[in-house]
Amino acid sequence: MSKKIASARISAESSALLKELNDSLPFDKALYREDIRGSLAHARMLKEQGIISAEDYEAIEKGLRQVLEEIESGAFSLDGGDEDIHMAVERRLTEIVGDAGKRLHTARSRNDQVAVDFRMYVLRHDLQIAALLRKLITTLLERAEEHAETLLPGMTHLQHAQPTNLGYHLMAYASMFRRDLERFLDSYERNNLSPLGCAALAGTPHPVDRQMTAKELGFRAPTLNCLDSVSDRDFALEILFNIATMMMHISRLSEELILWSTSEFGFVRLSDKHATGSSIMPQKKNPDIPELLRGKTGRAYGNLVSLLTVMKGLPLAYNKDTQEDKEGVFDSVHTAELSLRVLREMIDEMSVDREAMERACMRGHLTATDLADWLVREAGLPFRDAYHIVGNVVNRAEELGKDISQMTPEELAEVDARIAPEACTLLDNRASMNARASEGGTATVRTREQIGQMREWLEGL
Ligand code: ARG
Repeated sequence: MSKKIASARISAESSALLKELNDSLPFDKALYREDIRGSLAHARMLKEQGIISAEDYEAIEKGLRQVLEEIESGAFSLDGGDEDIHMAVERRLTEIVGDAGKRLHTARSRNDQVAVDFRMYVLRHDLQIAALLRKLITTLLERAEEHAETLLPGMTHLQHAQPTNLGYHLMAYASMFRRDLERFLDSYERNNLSPLGCAALAGTPHPVDRQMTAKELGFRAPTLNCLDSVSDRDFALEILFNIATMMMHISRLSEELILWSTSEFGFVRLSDKHATGSSIMPQKKNPDIPELLRGKTGRAYGNLVSLLTVMKGLPLAYNKDTQEDKEGVFDSVHTAELSLRVLREMIDEMSVDREAMERACMRGHLTATDLADWLVREAGLPFRDAYHIVGNVVNRAEELGKDISQMTPEELAEVDARIAPEACTLLDNRASMNARASEGGTATVRTREQIGQMREWLEGL
């Protein structure tokens, strides 16, 4: 068990049980880089402000670099039983440089130390996730371009509704992922403020320069109020919410890919990499990868709700409950980054069966609305009357065992004499898809326009 360096008033060694509950090193060791970076900036500021001597600073600086090297090479193990990453780094530093190491914690508390470390971690991943989203959107745009003419039965209630194209469908997802990306960037901007120098809760009598450490660590500025800064975890909640929402989008897309790769649909085939076999049924290819993406969404929601719950009753300022902020964030970040990489690859490599999609458009009378619109436009009927006439046409098509798009002008006129032969051309699925050329609509020209606008936005990022 490590020698306690922060226990002037606690004499008995903690029981193993208490240590297991109390210690965060087993997980917050992931913050070692941020912790050392934060300490380097703090030490330099202490020297510049005349709070520690230049000699002590040099010893600390060299020592911290050595600790970093030792952690990365494995020479200094982070499984040594220290309470947390902050105590572990400080202990090792003091072993290496002696008394100078004990001066590092001047004008600082673990409360502002952990706040700055964790914020740097979260901000870094806000940007990393945004970069991965950018790659995913780029791939979606490529596939959308390739399939801007591939007919796809658009659905509501999972029932055939109107003809669309696959590119348009993919652009719907690209739009969701664009909002996700913007959310990560917004969060980055809002939270890019340094809590370092806030000390325990009330600031410090030492003449610290928070502007300097903020700048050195790449923050826009220091935070406004120290009491808030050591207890606030909004930045962590934001990344959890952003990830939960993004995973919800990933999950919806995964669900469609699972459905589309069934023998009932047969619209897409996932590459062999993204499917696995069954241990008993030799013929099977299961979509385990999109299923896992859908399944992992659950833990992303859980992590968000869990931290919201941890925070809800906490009086100001720091409380140890806050230590519960990290594992969920680490887990969500890992899940998000892995999911984005896998999803991009899966979209890139899946093969699309255009014929199957087009064949599916021949079921479900997708162009019925077009005929009703024609009756309104060309025959001057009120929409409700047109709606009823087309209902009769659909009944007749079912009697004939055809799709509405296969009815002849004669068959149509038999149902209602006002349906002129020219209306027939509207019933073609592709004509119908291209007729929906209103802004943001499915027509191939509009789909291409959306792709172009999204590409412009992406390039301007
Ligand atoms: N391991 C702690 C955490 O993650 C560091 C802060 C401890 N501060 C304190 N006053 N006990 O929250």
